[in-house]
Amino acid sequence: MSKLPSNFMWGGALAANQFEGGYDEDGKGLSVIDVMTGGEHGKAREITREVEADKYYPNHVGIDFYHRYKEDIALFKEMGLECLRTSIAWTRIFPNGDEDEPNEEGLKFYDDVFDELIKNGIEPVVTLSHFEMPLHLAREYGGFRNRKVADYFARFAEVVFDRYKDKVTYWMTFNEINNQMDTSNPIFLWTNSGVTLSEADDPEEVLYQVAHNELIASAKAVKIGKEINPNFQIGAMISHVPIYPYSCNPQDIMEAQIANRLRFFFPDVQVRGYYPGYAKKMLAQKGYDIGYLDGDDAILRQGTVDYIGFSYYMSTVVKHDAQSTVDNNVVNGGLPNSVENPYIESSDWGWAIDPEGLRYTLNVLYDRYQIPLFIVENGFGAIDRIEDGQIHDDYRIDYLRKHIQAAIDAVDLDGVDLIGYTPWGIIDIISFTTGEMKKRYGLIYVDRDNEGHGTLDRMKKDSFYWFKKVIETNGESLD
Ligand code: BG6
Repeated sequence: MSKLPSNFMWGGALAANQFEGGYDEDGKGLSVIDVMTGGEHGKAREITREVEADKYYPNHVGIDFYHRYKEDIALFKEMGLECLRTSIAWTRIFPNGDEDEPNEEGLKFYDDVFDELIKNGIEPVVTLSHFEMPLHLAREYGGFRNRKVADYFARFAEVVFDRYKDKVTYWMTFNEINNQMDTSNPIFLWTNSGVTLSEADDPEEVLYQVAHNELIASAKAVKIGKEINPNFQIGAMISHVPIYPYSCNPQDIMEAQIANRLRFFFPDVQVRGYYPGYAKKMLAQKGYDIGYLDGDDAILRQGTVDYIGFSYYMSTVVKHDAQSTVDNNVVNGGLPNSVENPYIESSDWGWAIDPEGLRYTLNVLYDRYQIPLFIVENGFGAIDRIEDGQIHDDYRIDYLRKHIQAAIDAVDLDGVDLIGYTPWGIIDIISFTTGEMKKRYGLIYVDRDNEGHGTLDRMKKDSFYWFKKVIETNGESLD
């Protein structure tokens, strides 16, 4: 007997900007990610003013899903996926973001993709914005610093909710809305919100202004979506990297509790519909003007989410009197006092491997919010090698097996309400933080390298067959 509910949703997760390609086809406009160059291991991605001829932009081609979606969906079906989490490129629908009318060719593309998925028994789960807002809104309006952009987002949401109301039930507003709390790496504010900081800015004040506009945008979208189809399930989407105290020293405990608020601030508002006390206090004490308007209480209250989708890759640790010893070129929050966890190992990219942390996370989130949870990203970025025409990715299977077991424990032993599990990068795609191709998460290999060479041919890895069996047995067979 499976320990998971029979309607548990097994799937895979992807994002338009990282796999579609076709960056300038059929009327698509430039997005903030289209001006980010390809990365090298350990080197930050560059954000250029415009597309420059002598630079390499890996997301322009992605893995060319735009032209190969039928072939890929056939593979997803063969793997047994029940759902596919993907996103809509805002710039296919509104190329600049501020047009009155949407681009029909862009809308048609997602009709075709969703129809193909549904025809193959795969339910689309859709993020409205996954790191690719229109570049025009970033450059000309200042991104989500500008309240008008919240209205442009709401209009975009309205158009796609209406168009796909009979094809999509599960939605999320902004991908990893809370990862931009880390201002140590400029790509987070840029990709989430189209914002760059100047010398004159107080980064924290800007961050909360941006956050407020985005929370308003998310709440407006939820309200509009529910009016269009009351059966929609509209979720928040957060990155959860739990922050552990280094020791039982009460100062470490307090430090970790305060640092964890960086993770919780967005979902606290999105789930409860109002600002938490710690945020109100901090904003008042610092005298920040975040552009909170009179009607905003009502907007936030009316736009609360139905569930929390979240990504989980790793955990981190803080020590109250330490200088950070962790490479912050990873998404661990850029905390000034984060230190290595002596009990766990890390991936080649320095991401701490902590399956137990997933069970812990599920409990923390469920205790705090008491609404359904959906693991919409989890996976292992690694270098794969082809041997005799095969890829034996036992390391990835090992990672996924332990994390799925932790999720099952949270459901079976702790009573957490978990809707589903969609491992990240079900097929190899461009890495977000580094722009590399060699950091692979996929259960399906794609022949492409960091410089854009390769046939783009697809090939099943060992993990493909393993995951197929996991799905068939609803998580009973993890061997
Ligand atoms: C999450 C993002 O931060 O982590 C994805 O939602 C991203 O877009 C994933 O790809 C893994 O990060 P990376 O940098 O290894 O691709």
